[in-house]
Amino acid sequence: DWTMAQFRDTKIAEIREQVGDGKVICGLSGGVDSAVAAVLIHEAIGDQLTCVFVDHGLMRMNEAEQVVTLFRDHYNIPLVHVDAEEMFLGGLAGQTDPEKKRKFIGAAFIDLFEAEAKKIGGADFLAQGTLYPDVIESVSFTGGPSVTIKSHHNVGGLPERMNMKLVEPLRELFKDEVRELGRELGLPEIFVGRHPFPGPGLAIRIPGEVTKEKCDILRKADMIYLEEIRNAGLYDAIWQAFAVLLPVRTVGVMGDGRTYDSVCALRAVTSTDGMTADVYPFDSQFLSQCATRIVNEVKGINRVVYDYTSKPPGTIEWE
Ligand code: XMP
Repeated sequence: DWTMAQFRDTKIAEIREQVGDGKVICGLSGGVDSAVAAVLIHEAIGDQLTCVFVDHGLMRMNEAEQVVTLFRDHYNIPLVHVDAEEMFLGGLAGQTDPEKKRKFIGAAFIDLFEAEAKKIGGADFLAQGTLYPDVIESVSFTGGPSVTIKSHHNVGGLPERMNMKLVEPLRELFKDEVRELGRELGLPEIFVGRHPFPGPGLAIRIPGEVTKEKCDILRKADMIYLEEIRNAGLYDAIWQAFAVLLPVRTVGVMGDGRTYDSVCALRAVTSTDGMTADVYPFDSQFLSQCATRIVNEVKGINRVVYDYTSKPPGTIEWE
């Protein structure tokens, strides 16, 4: 009989065996997976671990503060907080191709981890919260030749030039199992129960070019949408819900003026592992309320649509 407590003990032993007395850098993305990986590795090797939280400026509202608080106050795990907004937004300027955006972000993370490793006198390992579905989806076998659907930011290994090896203790797990392991490790429920958030962040929820202005607009819309979902008591029934800012402007009317602003799409799905997903069937009154609040409260958005596409044929994220 296999239990999470056993898994935890086995993994701790494996991590100790793999790492020896080496030093490990763990990248935190703000999501559940990397947080669980970090706490597990910390249990295994204590202060041989340095956590690095890269704030790429593509986080949701208040997300960066929440992660820093969890690690510093709740766990007392040392955390390096890197403010890399300029680097990420600078590198994304002018980029519109989804795979190019993803590849740039993945490479920028690695560069920053490498720089932090140098600062602590070198690290032997890079730890990541990669899950089983991340590995499968980055290279999907559809029966014919293999096709990459999306390059997940933390899949694909490390560049040859690097001397670091990967530590990925969650590589065999699905999301629900990671949450169970998180509970086993004592992570607070509000953290464990959070909707998944992709490493590339808002960059893949802004089709086309990403700018700071667009990120700011999207953060506001997304916050209102999630607030409404929480208030309606629906948060835990949904696998993932978020707003997307479309690169399309439409004409509207507000008061007695004309508006010409962006369209916001709302997405909410149910799923067990993120590999397939169904659309969450909100009632129309709930959606109207979200649309009204977003258009009234967010300058720059004058139209809201709901994404009714399941996965497949859609994917959960828009890029
Ligand atoms: P898709 O859009 O492929 O997403 O249907 C499936 C699940 O994976 C998340 N996702 C990512 N997570 N790095 C991550 O850590 C990534 O690059 C990435 N891309 C997608 C997505 O949010 C959903 O939960």
